[in-house]
Amino acid sequence: MLFGIATKKDDDWWIGVTNPDTPHLSKYESLMFQGNGYLGIRGSLEEHYLNEKRDMFVLGTFDKFKNEATELPNLPDIVNIEIMVNGKLLSLNHGETTNYQRGLNLHNGEIVRSFDWLNGKDKLHFEFRRFVSMDNCHLFVSEVKVTPLSDNVRLQIKSGIDGQQTNGGTQHFVEGTKRLFNARFVQMQTQTQNSLVKFALTEYHRLFLNATELTLNPRLQIERRQIFANYSIDVEKDQCLTFVKYANVFASNDQDLKDNVSMDCLCQLKHVGRESYQKLLEASSHVWEEKIWQDSFVEIASHNNKPQIAVNYARYQLFANAPCDYSKNIGAKGMTGEGYKGHAFWDTEIFMLPFFMLNIPSYAHNLLIYRYLNLIGAQKKARQGGYQGAQYPWEAAMPEDAESAPLWGSADIITGEPMKILSGSTEIHVTADVAFGVYQYIKNTGDYSFAKRMGYEIILQCAQFWASRVTWNSEINHFEITDVIGPDEYKEHANNNAFTNYMVHWCMRKGAEIITDLRQNDLITYSRLNKKFDMKKLVKELIEKSSMLYLPAPNENGIIAQDDNYLSYKKINVNKYRTSDNISEIFKDFDLKQLDKLQVTKQADVLLLLLLFEDELPKNIIKQNWDYYEPKTIHDSSLSFSTHAILANDIGLYDRAFDYFEKNCQIDLGTNMGSSVKGVHMAGLAGTWKIVIEGFGGIRAVKDGLRIQPHIPSTWKHLKFSLIWRGNKVDVLVTQTYFSVISDGKIKFIYHDHIYHVEPQERVLIEI
Ligand code: BGC
Repeated sequence: MLFGIATKKDDDWWIGVTNPDTPHLSKYESLMFQGNGYLGIRGSLEEHYLNEKRDMFVLGTFDKFKNEATELPNLPDIVNIEIMVNGKLLSLNHGETTNYQRGLNLHNGEIVRSFDWLNGKDKLHFEFRRFVSMDNCHLFVSEVKVTPLSDNVRLQIKSGIDGQQTNGGTQHFVEGTKRLFNARFVQMQTQTQNSLVKFALTEYHRLFLNATELTLNPRLQIERRQIFANYSIDVEKDQCLTFVKYANVFASNDQDLKDNVSMDCLCQLKHVGRESYQKLLEASSHVWEEKIWQDSFVEIASHNNKPQIAVNYARYQLFANAPCDYSKNIGAKGMTGEGYKGHAFWDTEIFMLPFFMLNIPSYAHNLLIYRYLNLIGAQKKARQGGYQGAQYPWEAAMPEDAESAPLWGSADIITGEPMKILSGSTEIHVTADVAFGVYQYIKNTGDYSFAKRMGYEIILQCAQFWASRVTWNSEINHFEITDVIGPDEYKEHANNNAFTNYMVHWCMRKGAEIITDLRQNDLITYSRLNKKFDMKKLVKELIEKSSMLYLPAPNENGIIAQDDNYLSYKKINVNKYRTSDNISEIFKDFDLKQLDKLQVTKQADVLLLLLLFEDELPKNIIKQNWDYYEPKTIHDSSLSFSTHAILANDIGLYDRAFDYFEKNCQIDLGTNMGSSVKGVHMAGLAGTWKIVIEGFGGIRAVKDGLRIQPHIPSTWKHLKFSLIWRGNKVDVLVTQTYFSVISDGKIKFIYHDHIYHVEPQERVLIEI
């Protein structure tokens, strides 16, 4: 498996670079992202470079200008450190850099960079370290050690808060106030232009010469939207100057705000600034270890450690981006870049949620509470369209927002005009996907308290929307769903997209089941919900409409038509698009109108349906549909490979499964240096975990419970992992010849239609 980033043979938790490679900085910035679910910072270098893209976000602080889509504003930069050596600016583009190494430790999120730099007669050794704290969500700490190797030098260090950052040109912040507190604390207060979220950012520095702390007050420099502290120190040959930067960020919508952003920021930094870098790092590493890694375990014994690194990397990014409270969601690119503006998609429920609910269910719980809060926006959206219930936004930002998808995209190859993005109005399957995610969570965790308080209501609101969205077609004597975009976004006006119809059918049926069940078994919840819906009327409507909804059945060849017309469209040879390193290559040859009429599929569509509904659809049609759709799918979305890998493994195409697994790992880690520059692909990363656990590990939540039916790649000696199933910690070991299951509580699982019971701490071993 080829990676575009360096790894080490003997370290499963390290990715990095061994030469400065400044032309590809933007890719490394995304890959070496640091975050804690509140604060997210790209891995930009401390000193500036031409093609850098500095981004720092606080989750849930969206801002919107008229005629533009709402987006997470790019905060003032706190990473910057400018160093002058005898008047010459440190830059890897000048002088000679040797022994360069920069790496991200995936175990605790620390970035370490070290190198020797020779400029003129001066040679110095530099070591930079930094982390975003998992222990204190507001905190970022960085440290630089500089040792002159050839002669005494004068070092000038400039560090501060730089608000001249934009989101691709849009400045979201007003010119705020900038000042120094207690002669040492540099602070900027600012506010978003339209959403009026207030921010305070504070920085405090400590300097040491060898072990002795220097009492130096900075020389302040204030510019437009910038405030810097400057220091000047003489350092003798072989002495080590250590510069420690403590920086923190508070926002006015923080849930832990005590006083106001400025005071909270300052008080906290005064307190934290007494600790050493190392001590604060240990506190953060401790949280990674105790609260995260102990509950999320995957070990792959293979002929090399690339698969292990890929799954560690995926887990690192997912946890670093998982919201630490329930009012936020995970953007398609997390906080790792400006791509998709911080918006959340169906990516969360269908791709990321399984990871969280089987590892640390409290994160999944938070994500679903967000969707409960998001009912405000979703109900608004339904009403705007003349529908009932709740219609979830295709792109979600603040929970109260109805739809955040932009209206215009890139230029049409034929007309030269910007293409209208229809997803916000017609990619409606998200409303069933959210309900599906809610139900999967309830099934996997057994969290009926959430179900009663919020989960059932979400499903019912969605079901009510669908009941008002389906339309009667007297020709076929069925309800149908017309003019939608399914997962294959290259069909913009599909009628009866199979994925959408089956999901909607499931949602309405589940809604009816929930009402019937509550009426029989839980009158308290029933009457509470009855105040929001007319439950009797709704159940009747859901039963009637779900039973009469048109569901495209497999045809005589076993093929489920992707939509009413897909099978009649022209077929073309798509090899050149499938093998291209770049996505959207097909737009060089066709525009969307033309693609609408071709048998070309952007990403897993019917195949995803077959995976999600493997319980309900005949198993023997998977291979036929694979043979039909897989060759027509050009994988122009990072969501596609994982479904293909898992299905291929299921149907015994083991080489293809591994091939798709590799492709999936390479979405971000691979050699295409143009990909990921606007952020990594969170659903693709979740896909890496899914392929390993759901695919090779064979873990599925099926109708009758937990199924474990593993098959690992032939190059793997074993796969070991843990998961949480209905509150029990389950450890699974899979080898080429057997698998074993141990649980800390009583569980049962299904393997090839047999049910196995596991007593607490008893090891059940099954030969494969
Ligand atoms: C995909 C969508 C996905 C979005 C965000 C698009 O390219 O087609 O399915 O939700 O990216 O990841």
